[in-house]
Amino acid sequence: MDIRENIPLAPLTTFKVGGNARYLVEARSADDVLATVEYARSNHLPLFILGGGSNLVVADAGWPGLVLKIAIGGVSERDNADKKEFEVGAGEDWDKFVALTVARNCAGVETLSGIPGTVGGTPVQNVGAYGQEVAETITSVRVLELATMQVRDLGNSECGFAYRTSIFNSSERGRYIVLRVTFALTLGGTARIAYADLKKYFPEGSSPSLQQVRDAVREIRLSKAMLIVPNDDDCRSAGSFFKNPIVDAAKYEEVAARVNGNAPPKYPAGDGKVKLSAAWLVEQSGFQKGLSRGPVGISRRHSLAIVNRGGATAADILALKNEVQAGVRDKFGIELTPEPVFVGFE
Ligand code: EPU
Repeated sequence: MDIRENIPLAPLTTFKVGGNARYLVEARSADDVLATVEYARSNHLPLFILGGGSNLVVADAGWPGLVLKIAIGGVSERDNADKKEFEVGAGEDWDKFVALTVARNCAGVETLSGIPGTVGGTPVQNVGAYGQEVAETITSVRVLELATMQVRDLGNSECGFAYRTSIFNSSERGRYIVLRVTFALTLGGTARIAYADLKKYFPEGSSPSLQQVRDAVREIRLSKAMLIVPNDDDCRSAGSFFKNPIVDAAKYEEVAARVNGNAPPKYPAGDGKVKLSAAWLVEQSGFQKGLSRGPVGISRRHSLAIVNRGGATAADILALKNEVQAGVRDKFGIELTPEPVFVGFE
């Protein structure tokens, strides 16, 4: 176990803000994870588990204890009837894994191309984009249960997946550390063209390959600054900063009434409910793309991304978050829930 001291966390995140970790350990195996957890416990160090850092806001004070960076690698493949199963180390880069599945002609995660972060983070918030979410293809998640220090395999139904949530970020937060994730993908399957942006991209009746869909998604993400490229301050963010709120029909009508009856964008969310667009609510509340508050602002290409234009602090980000939430609350009576995880703020 290699323990390093006073390690800046900002470079380990896509937002590039936040202070130092008092200690940081990179764990390359389940045994490393176990040993590090035991070390943190015996030294009474609060533990934070870091994946790809793409959905985090780290406090300016940093993390007072030990940050355990999950760097467990390895992908194993096995055929199972018309499916191919991929068992993937939690520390593998997500988009590199998607590229591999497309190269193997396996369908199921192709529209999740271009998402920053690591594989282990994907079940935690049930990553979704452009018509797919990982809940559809994850068959099991190997975890370390902290209370018992046992390694367990949780089946899909045990993970409690729903929109941007699972047991890992809700009811059982802090109970498990994700070590590996198994996906069952469809060999030779066809790409999913369901999301509006993809339907617009491909002519009706065409049947694009998985690779073409992967390329299209990356291009669409780039146009929204949701693809990380060097020297583009619009993508120095944590992606979507707020979740799309799910409301009942009456609330939807109320929202429409507040914009003079112009139909707000909505997506079916089951049980007669609809998902509203947080990006739309933000703009209608007066926060336009490209808005700037010193070193922080709103992306010029997507109103749902708060961005660090250079030299921002976590406090700057929080101030803009609060301002946007207050604006949307005043205009629509809706409380936007942040999507990123806040680290070290208590
Ligand atoms: N819109 C605006 N202004 C904008 C962008 C969008 O008003 O600047 C409105 C438009 O009406 C548009 C609608 O919002 O039609 C939906 O926009 P978009 O397709 O970009 O999707 P989103 O709902 O804003 C969600 C996810 C993204 C994911 C995309 C594509 C959440 C919180 N966000 O965004 O995920 O990539 O769909 O599937 O669910 C992330 O979680 O970090 C993330 C980037």
